[in-house]
Amino acid sequence: MSEKITRRASLAGAVALPFALSGNAPAAEVGLDAVARGRGMRFGSALSARAQGASMDNPAYAALLRADCGLLVAENEMKWQHLRPAPGKFDFAAFDRIMAWGTANHMAVRGHNLLWQRRKWMPVWLEKYDFGARPARAAADILVEHITTVTKRYGKRIESYDVVNEAVTPETGALEETALSQAMGGTEATLDLAFRTAHAQAPHAELVYNDYMSWEPGNAAHRAGVLRLLEGFRRRGVPVHALGVQSHIVTAGPDTSGSARGYERNWRQFLDAVTGMGYRLLITELDVRDNGLPADPAVRDRGVADYARRYLDVMFSYPQLRDVVAWGLCDRFSWIGPFEPRPDKAARRPCPYDADYRAKPLRAAIAAAFARAPARGT
Ligand code: G3I
Repeated sequence: MSEKITRRASLAGAVALPFALSGNAPAAEVGLDAVARGRGMRFGSALSARAQGASMDNPAYAALLRADCGLLVAENEMKWQHLRPAPGKFDFAAFDRIMAWGTANHMAVRGHNLLWQRRKWMPVWLEKYDFGARPARAAADILVEHITTVTKRYGKRIESYDVVNEAVTPETGALEETALSQAMGGTEATLDLAFRTAHAQAPHAELVYNDYMSWEPGNAAHRAGVLRLLEGFRRRGVPVHALGVQSHIVTAGPDTSGSARGYERNWRQFLDAVTGMGYRLLITELDVRDNGLPADPAVRDRGVADYARRYLDVMFSYPQLRDVVAWGLCDRFSWIGPFEPRPDKAARRPCPYDADYRAKPLRAAIAAAFARAPARGT
């Protein structure tokens, strides 16, 4: 066991978290990352730099991060909307603080993201930008400048980037367009340039295409579009190393094990196709939308945990998967509540810890899934 792991496991014990683990889950004082490392894997979470939020400046949230995580990702602070207030301007203040905290706490930090291929999530100024007489050149310059500046600033401190986020339209499987890709004269050329630039500037880094095609029904067109995109990258020799499977998974009703069994075959076909092309896998944004489950928190938490454990069992059967990142650890700060409230208005419970920072069955389910995952080689 490395010094880092030993230290993290003992830190987990030191904060005396109220874990309620049972069955074949490991002992209560062991953090999730320590359990994952035992299988050659890693566990981490998103965090933010907002003092009152899921932040390292919030002592209760920081304690969860220290206890359970070996890997961090900024929920928002590396996105163009945050880093790029205006053309030619960068604001690294918030992300730098996350990076410094991660480094001080011996945690790896992933980069999310270098290009979000959705108009809605790119800066307003870019959508209105005058690309001039040679738009393809001007757009390429902006993209290369952005990726070069970010990757150079963090150098080897970032070893894995979501280079491109969400380029496929879920309903049709077609590629999304933005002002940048229109000016470039095509989405494929834009995405290829993003990966080639990232590779040239950060040759040490794992380069990831990240998307939310999932295993539930209704995702077939999205999955097919992602496969076409990944095939295209290989055909064109674009340096893409892994698929980030966001894993915002959704329950459909009380029979969570029946749902999971029903989804597994198509999902494995998809993952087999992805790994068959030589891509590695990451779980980049794990949380569970508790749809179709009764409001009773105990019943809901059990359903969420069962569904997630079955999902993770399938995912962990792929040796190409090593890293698992939760999209937040604590229900209090999850994006899901504001973005998609439950019809019955009951507060969403998508994370491993509840709104009062108490461990839920979902945390135990993640620990149990790691504990029985086939060990990865070094
Ligand atoms: O910072 C402002 C604040 O000043 C303002 O008062 C407030 C009012 O709405 O908005 C705050 O910004 C919000 C930001 O989250 C920080 O909380 C934005 O409105 C809101 O749009 C933004 O949402 C984020 C969303 O991505 C868009 O960037 C979510 O937090 C974040 O969880 C979500 O994450 C995405 C991944 O990046 C990609 N995959 C899907 C995932 C979930 O949607």
